[in-house]
Amino acid sequence: MKLLIKNGRVIDPASGTDDTLDILIERGKIVDIKTKIDGDGPKIIDASRLVVAPGFIDIHTHLREPGQEDKETIHTGSLAAAKGGFTSVACMPNTTPVNDNRGIIEYILSEAKKSAVVNIFPIGAVTKGQKGEELTDMADMVDAGAVAFSDDGLPIMNNYLMRRTLEYSKLLNILIIDHCEDTNLSSGGVMHEGYYSYLLGLTGIPSFSEEIMVSRDIILAEKTDARIHIAHLSVKGAAELVREAKKKKLKVTAEVTPHHLFLTDASLENFDTNLKVNPPLRTKDDVKALIEAVKNGVVDVFATDHAPHTPDDKEVELDQAPFGINGLETAVSLFLDKLVHKNIISLQKFIEMISTNPALILGFENKGRICIGADADFTILNLRKEIIVDVNRFKSKSRNNPFHGWKLKGAPEMTIVGGKIVYPF
Ligand code: DOR
Repeated sequence: MKLLIKNGRVIDPASGTDDTLDILIERGKIVDIKTKIDGDGPKIIDASRLVVAPGFIDIHTHLREPGQEDKETIHTGSLAAAKGGFTSVACMPNTTPVNDNRGIIEYILSEAKKSAVVNIFPIGAVTKGQKGEELTDMADMVDAGAVAFSDDGLPIMNNYLMRRTLEYSKLLNILIIDHCEDTNLSSGGVMHEGYYSYLLGLTGIPSFSEEIMVSRDIILAEKTDARIHIAHLSVKGAAELVREAKKKKLKVTAEVTPHHLFLTDASLENFDTNLKVNPPLRTKDDVKALIEAVKNGVVDVFATDHAPHTPDDKEVELDQAPFGINGLETAVSLFLDKLVHKNIISLQKFIEMISTNPALILGFENKGRICIGADADFTILNLRKEIIVDVNRFKSKSRNNPFHGWKLKGAPEMTIVGGKIVYPF
């Protein structure tokens, strides 16, 4: 029932804390935070030389259940999350059937209660069957537990429908997570349209397929005064549009994934289907602009877009393979190694973008912060730990991760959800 985390470097960007502190947990909540708390009774965790952060929240995960359990289940996805340092994940609705009604929300929540080791928050579909034709009953789904809405995997092509979506979301004060892609421009594409797609003879997806939709949705967000969160930002032009929107104080936020920050379209040269992702890996120039956007606050959130696919799905020609990268178990080490250890961003900023900000954007008042009364969800990091990514040791059911073999410094050491140690297992 009681847990005491001792001597950790506690970093809580919400309150500006960065200090060596003890934290006492009781019945799933933080009950005390002090320089020294006596450890008489509770189970003690020695966090000396470790960083204690508010639990990491992945705003963009595909758990595949119901319907595609060969790729991932709520149980295996939650194990992958725990190992990856995530205490909460918000799961996208492109399941089979699509999560477009109360019944599926209730199913996911009850399955999560039975088998998940981290908090699972369902994201409802904006349109029925994600067909982009008819809106779902968002109010009913919010009542059932949906924390946001998205047709992720697919855009909402119809401008009229997107307008109505934003109007309803404003009424309900719920977030729309926006997959920005003009399918008239991207259809048939397998990678970024540019030098490498011409070189490899592959059909390209132009940058402006994303830019046009980001631009449309910023205009609609302004006209409707609604909130939008741009998913998986991948191109420079889109980052510039978000920057302009923020300058105008519109309610626009954005996320970026590790693969869009640390890989480029040049890597497709070996035709590895594990690099096929939507939006596609872009150019060096885009990567540079995205890193700049992270540094200057244009991008608010780090998200994984964990998209598990089986070897059978991926061991086909590039044209035939589904889009997606399995990301929950590598994201944190990638960010620590490539951004924090390289002094591109501070550790505080990293934690802000993977915990504080997703909690704020999703409206989770008791998460993403370390204060008395908050949920006892923690990610404990070992900044010195060196790992070599090995997909064969994944807890996820799938292995489609292009970082296999990468040597990275910094990793989750322990994951605590509601005062319970869920990793190491
Ligand atoms: O690469 C992707 N995979 N992008 C998406 O938008 C959907 C996702 C999936 O569901 O596999």
